[in-house]
Amino acid sequence: MGLGTFWGISAGAGDPDWLTVKGAKLLRSVKWVACPQNSSGQPGLAFQIVRPWLQPEHILIPLHLPFVTQPDQLQAAWRAAAEQLAPPLEQGEDVAFVCEGDVGLYSTFAYVARALQARIPNLSVQAIPGVASPLAAAALLGSPLVLGSEKLAILPALFALKDLEQACAWAEVVVLMKVAPVYPQVWQWLAEKSWLNRASLVVWAGWPQQVIFPTLERLANYQPPYFSLLILRSQTRN
Ligand SMILES: C[S@@+](CC[C@H](N)C(=O)[O-])C[C@H]1O[C@@H](n2cnc3c(N)ncnc32)[C@H](O)[C@@H]1O
Repeated sequence: MGLGTFWGISAGAGDPDWLTVKGAKLLRSVKWVACPQNSSGQPGLAFQIVRPWLQPEHILIPLHLPFVTQPDQLQAAWRAAAEQLAPPLEQGEDVAFVCEGDVGLYSTFAYVARALQARIPNLSVQAIPGVASPLAAAALLGSPLVLGSEKLAILPALFALKDLEQACAWAEVVVLMKVAPVYPQVWQWLAEKSWLNRASLVVWAGWPQQVIFPTLERLANYQPPYFSLLILRSQTRN
């Protein structure tokens, strides 16, 4: 018997209608759907996004993929996920792993796939691209993310303001993901440069609780949630 394929399906950044037609077709064709769990052990955000597209026949495999940085804990979690996912794949059945946003943008999909391939060397892994949060946020702001010769820098997290300065020296548009923990320092830095009107914040893009702030001028004391993304134009656009 052949092996199944391990699919990474990009669920899109929030709105279930942002799931691509290809992603929806693939979901319809598989029995096994894997997704990250939330901190209460329940199927997490990616599951919530694709829920309208799921059928009672789907069998859900929630995976414990903790938000930790210690390499040994992460490796153990990816190996445990691979152990859960291997049986149907080894029996020739496809498994779809759904991820929030795009599977290729700071997603756990690649790590889980790597752990699976360490266990099942000939396993086929395929990804279906989707609506990543920077593009969703730009669309909601009603402005293209980049235009013409503009360069784009995406910072996965900000550990030092120096990184932001360097990114702004190179790119006309800078996206700060995981901005929540550093928001007060970033706001202050922007205020000192009189750049508050060049930055926008999009919170929970595509979710019912979505909030869009086209500028940061009145947001000195705001505390953004984890699902917030900042888009900064280091040059004014003509
Ligand atoms: C681990 S990354 C996952 C990115 C995701 N794979 C994507 O394609 O957008 C999580 C960060 O993405 C950003 N993000 C993802 N979805 C978002 C949304 N719906 N609204 C705002 N920010 C979002 C936030 O900055 C969050 O801290």
